[in-house]
Amino acid sequence: MARYADDLALAHVLADTADSISSARFRALDLHVESKPDLTPVSDADTAVERALRATLARTRPRDAVLGEEYGVTEAAAGPGTRQWVIDPIDGTKNFIRGVPVWATLIALMEGDQPVVGLVSAPALGRRWWAATGHGAYAGRHTAAATPIKVSGVSRLADASFCYSDLMGWEETGRLGAMLSILRQTWRNRAYGDFYGYMLLAEGALDAMVEPELSLWDVAALVPIVTEAGGSFTDLDGRPGPAGGSAVATNRKLHADLLERLSAPGIEAL
Ligand code: IPD
Ligand code: CA
Ligand code: CA
Ligand code: CA
Repeated sequence: MARYADDLALAHVLADTADSISSARFRALDLHVESKPDLTPVSDADTAVERALRATLARTRPRDAVLGEEYGVTEAAAGPGTRQWVIDPIDGTKNFIRGVPVWATLIALMEGDQPVVGLVSAPALGRRWWAATGHGAYAGRHTAAATPIKVSGVSRLADASFCYSDLMGWEETGRLGAMLSILRQTWRNRAYGDFYGYMLLAEGALDAMVEPELSLWDVAALVPIVTEAGGSFTDLDGRPGPAGGSAVATNRKLHADLLERLSAPGIEAL
C-alpha cells in the first residue's frame, strides 16, 4: 500500500487514541451531555476525542487542514494538493449516550474534494473498517488481522436488503412517497443509522443504504470504504462522492435503478 501507507498508519494511531478515550466514557455514570444550538446532543466523550485527534494531527501533520464536527475548520497552509483530515469524533452520539454499542469514530483524509483514506472504528462492537484509494477495503480489529471486504452481487431490488437511517428528512426532499414505495418493493428493509448501514453494505451484509441529509464528517470516511469494496456512493441526484449532503450507497448493481426510483413520484405520502 505504497501511496497512502503512512496516512493509513496515522489513521489507525488516531483511531487507537479515540477508542481508548471513548471506551472509557461509554456507559460512564458521570457522562456529561449538553444540547448544541441545533438541539442535538454532545457528550464530553465527543469533545475529548476530537481534541485529542486534533492535537496529534497538529504535531504530526502541521501542514494539513482539519475539519471536525465539534470544533470546525483549522486552516493549514493552502496551496495545490491541500490535504484535509475530516473527523466525526463519535458518530452515533444518541446511541453512545443511551448505552447502545453502535457508535464509531470516523476519520478521513481528503485530497481536494476526494476522500482518499477512510477509517471507521467501532470499539464497542469490536470492529474496524478502512480503505485507501486504489488499495481495497478491509475489516478487522488491527491491520495484522485484516480481511478484504466486498459488496454483494444482488442485482434486483426485489431481492435486496435495503437500509435507511430513519424516515426523518425525506419529506423535505420531496421524496418521501418514492421512499415508501421503494420500501414496499424490497426483499427486506431495515433502519440502521449512522455509519453502520454503510459498513454492512461494504461487507456484503446488505445491498443499499440511503440518507437524505448529512454533513461532510458523516460520510467522508465512508466513501472510500464503500467504493473500494466495489460499491457506488453518490448523493440523491447521482453526483459521486461525499459533498452532496445526502447519500445513496449501493453494491453498484442496484445504483441506477435506485436513483431512478428515488426521483419517481412514488406512492402518496401518509
Ligand atoms: C448523526 C448520524 C445520523 C444522521 C445525523 C447525524 P452524530 O451523527 O450520522 O445517522 O442521521 O444527521 O447528525 O451527531 O451522531 O455524529
Ligand atoms: Ca452530532
Ligand atoms: Ca455523525
Ligand atoms: Ca458526531
